[in-house]
Amino acid sequence: MRGQGPRRLKAWCMTFMNRQKRPPELLHGGDWAGYEAEYGRPPLDFSSNVSPLGLPEGVRRAAIQALGDAERYPDPLCRALRDAIARAEGVDPAQCLCGCGSADLIYRAVLAQKPRRALVTAPTFAEYEAALELAGCQVVRYPLGPETGFLVRPDFLELITPEVDMVFLCEPNNPTGRTTPRSLLLSVLERCRETGTLLAVDECFGCFLEDPPAHSLAGLLAEYENLLIFKAFTKLYAMAGLRLGYCLGGSADLLAAMARAGQPWPVSGPAQAAGIAALAEADYVRAVRTLVGTERPRLQADLEALGLGVVPGEANYLLFSSPVPLLEPLRQRGILLRGCGNYHGLDRSWYRAAVRAPEDNRRLATALGEIIGPARVGLRPNPPGLCPGPTAL
Ligand SMILES: Cc1ncc(COP(=O)(O)O)c(C=O)c1O
Repeated sequence: MRGQGPRRLKAWCMTFMNRQKRPPELLHGGDWAGYEAEYGRPPLDFSSNVSPLGLPEGVRRAAIQALGDAERYPDPLCRALRDAIARAEGVDPAQCLCGCGSADLIYRAVLAQKPRRALVTAPTFAEYEAALELAGCQVVRYPLGPETGFLVRPDFLELITPEVDMVFLCEPNNPTGRTTPRSLLLSVLERCRETGTLLAVDECFGCFLEDPPAHSLAGLLAEYENLLIFKAFTKLYAMAGLRLGYCLGGSADLLAAMARAGQPWPVSGPAQAAGIAALAEADYVRAVRTLVGTERPRLQADLEALGLGVVPGEANYLLFSSPVPLLEPLRQRGILLRGCGNYHGLDRSWYRAAVRAPEDNRRLATALGEIIGPARVGLRPNPPGLCPGPTAL
């Protein structure tokens, strides 16, 4: 039977003990609290990728109003919220499960699926591997690199064998912002069905793509029991602090197991109310998408003008490499950037910047110009197209 046996238990215990020995470390961006503790003021935060327009007013009102019911438990089944999501997504409410952020659902999926071997790309969002490691799962990494534009290629299919219980794909990928060509994505899904593998597709940043429905696999849930899709409110509605995500699954049994794989009230009352209100914010969504669609190419052009190698991302952030260290000099100028040295497959020359409002983006470009300007002497920009960073002459 899956997930049993003394060797697996020992591996799990070793992983757990090793984790306990490590000092608490921050895997992600968005450490405004650390910055405020050090500098006594809030940073201009490019390290966390949420909507530059802030929390929609209607969402704020709904969350505050729901505090009036804080003395009672929230609906553990999130019924009204799931109905609203199902209407928005064109799926059955039974195909939807809500969680305390999509990160919660990633852990629940791994706990419920109990994979022994899983396939992830590198680099990608760190929580897939963290959850898999915690479950004692062997992780196989598929390297993405600048030579291939950080794209998944057809040879990915060869790694999907019957021994692989779970495959994670992040579409668009964090931190590269790139997407897998639709035809290859469909081949991966089909191949996973043949091998009895669960395909977990993280579409948390899918809302920032030019044509989100064209890339989403949500329309295929009825046909593929082995498909699980993660979605977030966090990014599009700047709701990171409320903690709300959901997933759509082709298998009712898997969703039921995921619901059992954690505490029964993962979504607070204010978060449920906020989610319902967010789904009515059509004008806000249009405004965010327009802003990101205009500002991303501008920011990319500004970074490239400084000689930085920028990956042509399709989401609300850009990955780029720099010949000089940027984190500390930017911090001193009040700006937080995401250093990407802790992503598998990247080193400390890589950075990720969120796409923010025009004046913020200009401030970042100006600060980078001050830092990189002197260092640019003797550097030439990358050939048009892609990374890696500037090459020394
Ligand atoms: C690709 C990806 N998926 C999921 C998450 C988790 O999002 P949430 O805030 O909904 O837990 C993140 C957070 O940065 C992310 O980058």
